[in-house]
Amino acid sequence: MSTSKKIEELNALKEKVKMGGGEKRIEKQHKKGKYTARERINKLLDEGSFVELDTFVEHRCTNFGMENKKMPGEGVVTGYGTVDGRLIYVFAQDFTVIGGSLGEMHAAKICKVQEMAMKTGAPLVGINDSGGARIQEGVDALSGYGNIFYNNTIASGVIPQISVIMGPCAGGAVYSPALTDFIFMVDNTSKMFITGPQVIKTVTGEEVSAEELGGAMTHNNTSGVAHFINENEEDTLENIKNLLSFLPSNNLEEAPVFNPEDDINRMNEELNSIVPDNANKPYDMKEVIEILADNNNFLEVQPYYAQNIITGFIRLNGRSVGVIANQPRVLAGCLDINASDKASRFIRTCDSFNIPLLSLVDVPGFLPGTDQEYGGIIRHGAKMLYAYSEATVPKVTVILRKAYGGAYIAMCSRHLKSDLVLAWPTAEIAVMGPQGAANIIFRKEIEKSDDPLETKTEKINEYKDTVANPYVAASRGYVDDVIKPLETRPRLISAFDMLSSKRENLPSKKHGNLPL
Ligand code: HXC
Repeated sequence: MSTSKKIEELNALKEKVKMGGGEKRIEKQHKKGKYTARERINKLLDEGSFVELDTFVEHRCTNFGMENKKMPGEGVVTGYGTVDGRLIYVFAQDFTVIGGSLGEMHAAKICKVQEMAMKTGAPLVGINDSGGARIQEGVDALSGYGNIFYNNTIASGVIPQISVIMGPCAGGAVYSPALTDFIFMVDNTSKMFITGPQVIKTVTGEEVSAEELGGAMTHNNTSGVAHFINENEEDTLENIKNLLSFLPSNNLEEAPVFNPEDDINRMNEELNSIVPDNANKPYDMKEVIEILADNNNFLEVQPYYAQNIITGFIRLNGRSVGVIANQPRVLAGCLDINASDKASRFIRTCDSFNIPLLSLVDVPGFLPGTDQEYGGIIRHGAKMLYAYSEATVPKVTVILRKAYGGAYIAMCSRHLKSDLVLAWPTAEIAVMGPQGAANIIFRKEIEKSDDPLETKTEKINEYKDTVANPYVAASRGYVDDVIKPLETRPRLISAFDMLSSKRENLPSKKHGNLPL
């Protein structure tokens, strides 16, 4: 055969693979509001940058007549390309080919890009759309999953791993996304569950729809498994690019620095009045975050889960910063089990990838109640202490209002080695709220008094003036400075600039034993 014929043959072979499961199945995919694997990759990566690998990989299963079945691309498209000019590895399961089901060689393709991403220090984006383990392949399919989970674990903290759920993701298959750093889901079309509605009905008698059980909102709002939800695939892919812009390519690099288009000396008068005079009145901490951020740009992570704590990324002077902030509007900003888990995971993600931490504190304490105690708030709350203590990235804390008790310590206090603690004059740093404190230490005086109400108010004020302010903590050096709220942005920019050369090493150990 002449060379030109051979090239023609190659083109024809590649074209065949590109058609995946064929026109009919592609049409079916489109009708569901879903793109094909290749369309998704092309929309995610810079135009023309995708380089495919393993186009010709084939399965070697001979069960149930599989030896006669060709599976173009083995039901998964893998390769590399760029997003905003930066190298990214990608795999996208192709639902049009045997339902994107995962067999031995499908898994081998995914493992190859996982390993190449680790070797070259580049993020990996995995697009999941699959009927799960390829039933015909039995244990070979399970072994494929196991290999992927192992690689996910080894890559954790080395390169950012982003999972995108754009179809079904069921059974043990959910554990690959669960081992990665961020999970994106698309409303209505993506599902994640260990056992589906049918199995649940048989085993427990419960009736639940697939959407209710494992739809995007369920995992964004109720379970906390997912981090982002978007209405459609287009928005999801755009959001992934935005997230990547806040992350470094690997654990040895810094996140990309952008030209700050915002005034680094910007003062914000509105911050001086954002904290209400009445300590029991809430305000929206998200407004504070947006005011402080470059161009008011805040990428919130897990916006629907444990809304009493806010996590997400901003830039200050063009540099990525991870924000953890109490939200006085929800549960008064108390820390509970879910908030502790959400914040701890986020702190560790930032620390893994050299992203400095900004903690904005307005916390009345840990949420009381039997639900919390029986659910293990002690164990979960401990994760926050652990995550903040072990984080060696620059840590800056601003106490806006309440900072009470254990929650004061947990919100990146000086005692957990915050590098710089600033407080607004409205800060109240104490063992507990003035009301509760006065009730305990002045109880007898209040009871004996002719006018208990009046005495109680006096005692509350006395407690506030004496200890519930920033100056006692500042006099001990636990707070480095008390600042005017309006000057917070320039003070933060200066603090993170000053800390940019921070180096801190922890004692060498195999690994710590984070309470789980
Ligand atoms: C082999 C599969 C498959 C699978 C789907 N297909 N799932 N083939 N193994 N797991 C094939 C179908 O036979 C069909 O082939 C094509 O993919 C598309 O599937 P449809 O059923 O036509 O699509 P749809 O109606 O959209 O339903 C999608 C679905 C359903 C809900 C995912 O296919 C389904 O329930 N599949 C089985 C899911 C499952 O139980 N998987 C095992 C989970 S346990 P044709 O030729 O007709 O196009 C698991 C364990 C992992 O994954 C453990 C890891 C540790």
